[in-house]
Amino acid sequence: MKKLIKNGTIVTAEKTFMGDILIDGEIIEKIEKNITCESAEIIDATDCYVMPGAIDVHTHMELDVGIAVATDDFYTGTVAAAYGGTTTIIDHIGFGPKGCKLGHQIGVYHEKARDKAVIDYSFHGVVQHVDDEILSEFETIVQDEAISSFKIYLTYDYKLGDLDAYHVLKRLGEIGGMTAVHPENDAIIDYRRKQYIKDGKTSPMDHAKSRPLECEAEAISRMINLATMAGGAPLYIVHLSNGLGLEYIKLAQKNGQNVYAETCPQYLLLDETSYEEEAYGGLKYVMSPPLREKSNQDQLWEGLRDGSISVIATDHCPFNLTTKIRMGKDDFTKCPNGAAGIETRVPLIFSEGVMTGRIDLNRFVEVMSTLPAKLFGIYPKKGCLDIGSDADIILIDPRKQVTIKNENLHQNVDYTPFEGFEVQGYPVMTISRGEVIVKDNQFIGQKGRGQFLRRQKMIK
Ligand code: URP
Ligand code: ZN
Repeated sequence: MKKLIKNGTIVTAEKTFMGDILIDGEIIEKIEKNITCESAEIIDATDCYVMPGAIDVHTHMELDVGIAVATDDFYTGTVAAAYGGTTTIIDHIGFGPKGCKLGHQIGVYHEKARDKAVIDYSFHGVVQHVDDEILSEFETIVQDEAISSFKIYLTYDYKLGDLDAYHVLKRLGEIGGMTAVHPENDAIIDYRRKQYIKDGKTSPMDHAKSRPLECEAEAISRMINLATMAGGAPLYIVHLSNGLGLEYIKLAQKNGQNVYAETCPQYLLLDETSYEEEAYGGLKYVMSPPLREKSNQDQLWEGLRDGSISVIATDHCPFNLTTKIRMGKDDFTKCPNGAAGIETRVPLIFSEGVMTGRIDLNRFVEVMSTLPAKLFGIYPKKGCLDIGSDADIILIDPRKQVTIKNENLHQNVDYTPFEGFEVQGYPVMTISRGEVIVKDNQFIGQKGRGQFLRRQKMIK
């Protein structure tokens, strides 16, 4: 049966207008004023914004960080995503056995997601060592597996050195792939962490102080220069947390480099004073990079407005607070890094971004959906409201006021870093490939209905 979304305010990255959307099966068939279709099921969107489903290109479902495993899997995490207005995720694959090929973890992740995901999904490959075999495997993965982006880490166990990072950038640049990087200066962080623990500085705030923003900014500038030397290879900076790093990104963009940046709600809305929360509450925010001094928030919002930041994603990587406290209360280095955010991204950014006037509606759609789709090769199937595109559509009711409370969320974790945030505006319906999967605050989709997305190369 066809569906007809009537009387809503349609918002895309380009424009805002009153109109109706006719959906035939999984696809958008028509967008016009006053569509009539007798046989269609009517969805009344009066007073709501009708937008492309949000896309979260930075999640970590069931991530095994060695000392703990992220508590959301591809079922619970994508159900939470759907409740929060997200219709596609691109998950960052976790590290596999030492020395494994790229394809190994891709196989593992297909198994993790299959029969569980309720929205469409893809993966970013992960590079944990570099040799000739890995460098030649990239092309096979891009072509056969339809995965066109790969992440490298400059810190953690499988960090890459400069030469390996250079080789990855160069090879991916040659074949039209994208290098995503977690940029932090590992040597300085490692030194400081050891020194802090020796000096008895073990609190959550010490986590933040042990990885200052200069560590992140230095690694960003290093990667930018490596990308230039690698022939102008495209580079995607994940979870940007600070203004100094953004300055390096802006300079590179001014020089015509293909450098793109992603930030996350936690860096836009929370600051390092959260680490002082009592009763070990500061451990909620142990993540890397850490929360920063508040002035960075304005710089990141400015980056969203001026176009130097292209994407808001979540880095959704939940661990229970009970686990964080049990493991990290006497030593922040023992606390698993990461926090939840997949369900709260859309309402938080709509409320704190659009309703406060920090960004406009069209820019909201652009950074939450359209640019992520373009950068990661799923546009115009996803990320827009065009005839022939997948009917991944959300309705946001700007009148709906909600106080964020973990007890009302669906993420499989015992806290949200955004507890108590009062949001103005909330997603009230989520449609994935033409199927209503959330309405009246109920998830009504089937487990495993999500499909793996074969991605193309980046669209500029
Ligand atoms: O602390 C974080 N961000 N954990 C998830 C893994 C990562 O670094 O993206
Ligand atoms: Zn990271």
